[in-house]
Amino acid sequence: TLAPELKDTGPEKLLAPVLSAFWDEDKSWTLDVYKRHEGYEGLHKALAMSPDDVIAYVKESGLRGRGGAGFPTGMKWQFIPQGDGKPHYLVVNADESEPGTCKDIPLLFANPHSLIEGIVIACYAIRSSHAFIYLRGEVVPVLRRLHEAVREAYAAGLLGENVLGSGLDLELTVHAGAGAYICGEETALLDSLEGRRGQPRLRPPFPAVAGLYACPTVVNNVESIASVPAIMNRGKEWFRSMGSEKSPGFTLYSLSGHVARPGQYEAPMGITLRQLLDMSGGMRPGHRLKFWTPGGSSTPMFTDEHLDVPLDYEGVGAAGSMLGTKALQCFDETTCVVRAVTRWTEFYAHESCGKCTPCREGTYWLVQLMRDIEAGKGRMSDLDKLNDIADNINGKAFCALGDGAASPIFSSLKYFREEYEQHITGRGCPFDPARSTAWA
Ligand code: NAI
Repeated sequence: TLAPELKDTGPEKLLAPVLSAFWDEDKSWTLDVYKRHEGYEGLHKALAMSPDDVIAYVKESGLRGRGGAGFPTGMKWQFIPQGDGKPHYLVVNADESEPGTCKDIPLLFANPHSLIEGIVIACYAIRSSHAFIYLRGEVVPVLRRLHEAVREAYAAGLLGENVLGSGLDLELTVHAGAGAYICGEETALLDSLEGRRGQPRLRPPFPAVAGLYACPTVVNNVESIASVPAIMNRGKEWFRSMGSEKSPGFTLYSLSGHVARPGQYEAPMGITLRQLLDMSGGMRPGHRLKFWTPGGSSTPMFTDEHLDVPLDYEGVGAAGSMLGTKALQCFDETTCVVRAVTRWTEFYAHESCGKCTPCREGTYWLVQLMRDIEAGKGRMSDLDKLNDIADNINGKAFCALGDGAASPIFSSLKYFREEYEQHITGRGCPFDPARSTAWA
């Protein structure tokens, strides 16, 4: 959150603290504190409406999925068939693991009830009586806090039988995954939740048609669901008063890397990195921005030419990248781009589930080439080979993991080809490792 000394000055007026409004408060994660901050008021409003009206309301708010793809949340809920006689499920994807993305985990740690309230509203809307939260297993303190918040909600009649006398019966299960990046892919997550090895399923059918246990399932990101209570309570017009027509509302940006004050910044959609850096004290003193990612390493990188690109789906898309998870990783001039991309590529190769050939084999070969170039053992022809392999993964892999691996290769070659060439002609990294703190 914003440093206290910055709270009462200039550009942070652009901040829109909603989910993060009371993260600094003592015991912010408890039901008592949540209730002091409009907690569960959105639920009361939702329960006074019909389930279909709740879906229509969320649709009209314009809320788009915060997991990266930006799919309209209300539309996803509307896909769930009604009167089909099958159980419906809500599965919250809390397996946040895109490199640089750190918004859902802090949100769950500081304000878990916003998610639980959103879950109750969503389940009422889609007529589900069992919801699951699939959480990254490594974050044990968050798991404990989430379990405690769920216990509090059951004790207060916000979960369980006949929620607040509405007739809704709702079970909520918190499930800890085992830390595989692929299990954040929604269909791999469902396989993992069912007790199988986490590997993506072919889509279609999308989970809305055949998801958990082959039943209609909504899979939503933590932040998407946690944003719903404030929309229900403060109104869709309030939500639409922020951001743009096609990307309305507020959102959590994760700012990391060589910045003076890394952290989570909650602001309207469409803010720019320049504005976010103004609020966060800029790059670390004496250094300048070299490259950055708008939404984690799987979104094509930007350079200092892109500081004024509006951070919404349309703005980032028009500039040649994707908004993704709004994970703004900022690197200064001390960072070797070849080294950074090598590390990311190693990550994708390690996390590739192996189900499809382009991703399994392609990421392996990308790593071999990147390591050679970084070590000064590359050839000029390797640059075309890199592009060629990335091209054979992009759009040809079973799921989005492959595209994510290809994207830093394409974009770094586009903006920093010269730096690759320097590694090859100079037979080594032109950066003095002692001078670079990026990987210390
Ligand atoms: P997608 O665009 O294929 O799907 C997005 C959502 O819309 C899914 O829930 C899907 O089921 C639903 N959907 C799409 N078309 C549909 C249809 N015709 N009928 C019913 N439902 C439909 O994107 P995908 O592959 O699910 O996710 C890719 C995104 O994930 C990337 O943009 C990336 O930024 C993000 N990502 C996020 C990570 C994180 O840690 N949060 C990690 C890695 C990637």
